[in-house]
Amino acid sequence: MKSKQICCIGAGYVGGPTMSVIALKCPDYNITVVDSNDERINSWNGPLDSLPIFEPGLKDIINSVRNKNLFFSTDVESAIRKSDIIFIAVNTPTKTSGEGKGMAADLSNIKKCSELIAKVSKTDKIIVEKSTAPVGTAQEIKNVLKSFNTKNKFEIISNPEFLAEGTAINDLTNPDRVLIGGENTVEGEIAINKIADIYREWIPEEKIIMTNTWSSELSKLASNSFLAQRISSINSLSALCEKTGAKIDEVAEAVGMDSRIGSKFLKASVGFGGSCFKKDILNLVYLCKYFNLYEVAEYWENVLKINDFQKKRFSHKIINTLKTIKDNPTISVLGWAFKKDTNDSRESASIDVVKDLLSNGINVNIYDPMVPKTTILNDIKELSDSKLKKLKISSSIDDSLVGSYGICIITEWDQFKEIDFNKASNKLVEPILFIDGRNIIDSEQIKSLFKHVMSIDS
Ligand code: UDX
Ligand code: ADP
Repeated sequence: MKSKQICCIGAGYVGGPTMSVIALKCPDYNITVVDSNDERINSWNGPLDSLPIFEPGLKDIINSVRNKNLFFSTDVESAIRKSDIIFIAVNTPTKTSGEGKGMAADLSNIKKCSELIAKVSKTDKIIVEKSTAPVGTAQEIKNVLKSFNTKNKFEIISNPEFLAEGTAINDLTNPDRVLIGGENTVEGEIAINKIADIYREWIPEEKIIMTNTWSSELSKLASNSFLAQRISSINSLSALCEKTGAKIDEVAEAVGMDSRIGSKFLKASVGFGGSCFKKDILNLVYLCKYFNLYEVAEYWENVLKINDFQKKRFSHKIINTLKTIKDNPTISVLGWAFKKDTNDSRESASIDVVKDLLSNGINVNIYDPMVPKTTILNDIKELSDSKLKKLKISSSIDDSLVGSYGICIITEWDQFKEIDFNKASNKLVEPILFIDGRNIIDSEQIKSLFKHVMSIDS
């Protein structure tokens, strides 16, 4: 048996890819990824073509390390017991009830894991907080551990994930930085170093930052809030472009060429999605309010308000254009994932846009290459049956065009850029509207095909 045993609780979008890359880069470590969801664990152990997560490059890594030094199991207790290092990568959704409802993160999964670790551990352990979590989570974990186990020593480390879905493998193998936060004590520093040792196997020392726990936890929220803020900034200007005739991509290019600003994350879109941005900003806002920093809270809250405004602005363009021309029109919506190259649809702009369309009498045909039908239906399950009747989930782009009066692109999947719109427009009942929520199609080239060609900024 290998001497270094790692356990990761949570086999999701964070735990799965992160542990796969650690297993690949650290052959001396034995890694067991555990999850209470046996269906998920079965898929991780099953055929490579039906892993629970679609992530470019992941399949090959799983193929090379699975059942060598990477194992997937539902036996959480024995994985905890045999490990020296335990990563917690469980989901932390926004609270839907109680104090902080709609804003604070629900830490109940993290607390459950901490309680179990405390109860089943027979040796000292390092607990690594990997889940997207609010500032103060390490302290919460510590409190739970202490109240259920006074015999063993636990060091809590904050090691936030910075992987973006769709590019997770590259982000993990070649990160901008790895952040490790811990306590300013001798034991804390030893624990920080043990976690750094894992990353030192493939990441240069200068990219490994070691800080106190609060700095680490806050840096994670700050990074995501800054990224989201850039998108809201450019999206807010896209609304002004629509009024003035300026082109948002030209503005983004001109602004981004200033080396102090930089060109990344300035792509105007129908709105950002994903499980992190909204949740992290809400956590930041909640934290600011807790410390009576209302102006700071309001500043960050506006990033979310612009995101909602952008989604509404987009759906209203569709509603206003189609409804004045047809009664009960149908539109083909391309893309359900919150970005390309993932099967994740959490907080995807498609959800709000499609809900708005259905609520305003528009029929919708949805196509996404990766998001399963069950996920799409689950994302909009609160809609009434009468609204759901207006929805069709298609298995191909062509199928989604049947009976439709227009095409709406929401996710920037590469295959949408390759569509022959000449042929596609012929398949529609009538080519009334083409609307691009990602500015990926050259609108000049298709202007002759559709009565109305629209984008984020026009
Ligand atoms: C994000 C962070 O990037 C990552 O570091 C963190 O660890 C987890 O949260 P993720 O949400 O997976 O990653 O994807 P990201 O690439 O950040 O995209 C988030 C959303 O912003 C997507 O909906 C994307 O389409 C949108 N986006 C991104 C834009 O609309 N414009 C841009 O310029 C960039
Ligand atoms: P993330 O994007 O943060 O990885 P996911 O929802 O994809 O979120 O994955 C989180 C995983 O954590 C899920 O598969 C869920 O079943 C698992 N999980 C949540 N709570 C527990 C728990 N107490 N014990 C074991 N697994 C858990």
